[in-house]
Amino acid sequence: ENSHLLTAKLLDWYQRNQRDLPWRQTRDPYRIWLSEVILQQTRVQQGLPYYQRFVEKFPTVEALAAATQQEVLRLWQGLGYYSRARNLHACAQQVVAQWGGAFPQTYHLLLSLPGIGRYTAAAIASFAFKEAVPVVDGNVYRVLARLYADPTDIAKPQAFAHFFALAQQLIDPRQPDVFNQALMEFGALHCTPQKPLCLYCPLKEHCQAYALGAAGPATGKE
Ligand code: ADE
Repeated sequence: ENSHLLTAKLLDWYQRNQRDLPWRQTRDPYRIWLSEVILQQTRVQQGLPYYQRFVEKFPTVEALAAATQQEVLRLWQGLGYYSRARNLHACAQQVVAQWGGAFPQTYHLLLSLPGIGRYTAAAIASFAFKEAVPVVDGNVYRVLARLYADPTDIAKPQAFAHFFALAQQLIDPRQPDVFNQALMEFGALHCTPQKPLCLYCPLKEHCQAYALGAAGPATGKE
């Protein structure tokens, strides 16, 4: 039905437009986690060289756990939000101490790790382990808010659960990893905050904001 068609069109768009990013070439939960922590408050272009350096210097979670905090902070230098680096280090140490160096493989268990919230747990669970749990970040909020002309205030605490449920209805259970990357990528490259590319949008027939003429600059959610 209609939502399957929407999902199929999104996946087709992703096949043709996705950026070639190194963390999309791996199923290693350590590398996926590392990339997501780096990208949390950092643009892809800025985060890329940091990701490369971390993977090179600390190729495994054991290597990262064994580093000193000073080494980790030095490699993090320039990315800001240094609590992210301290959490990164603490989480690596817990994965080694509690899980023998193997990341737990479900969304719920991943949430128990320090510094791993709903977004990061969903990213690891879906990208590394193909669990059908939606990844909900700012890009996903915006795309879904437009598709459903949804007025939910994203600053409200209930917004996450709301958009999580919407995304859960669209997720392709056979390839939740690809679906999640596709929805984020669509928000990052096509359904952008200020100038969404509605005229040649592959999803416009499904977009209620487009139908209302409201997907332009003035959604007010950015
Ligand atoms: N930003 C956050 N996570 C990302 C990912 N997996 N790919 C591209 N950009 C991202």
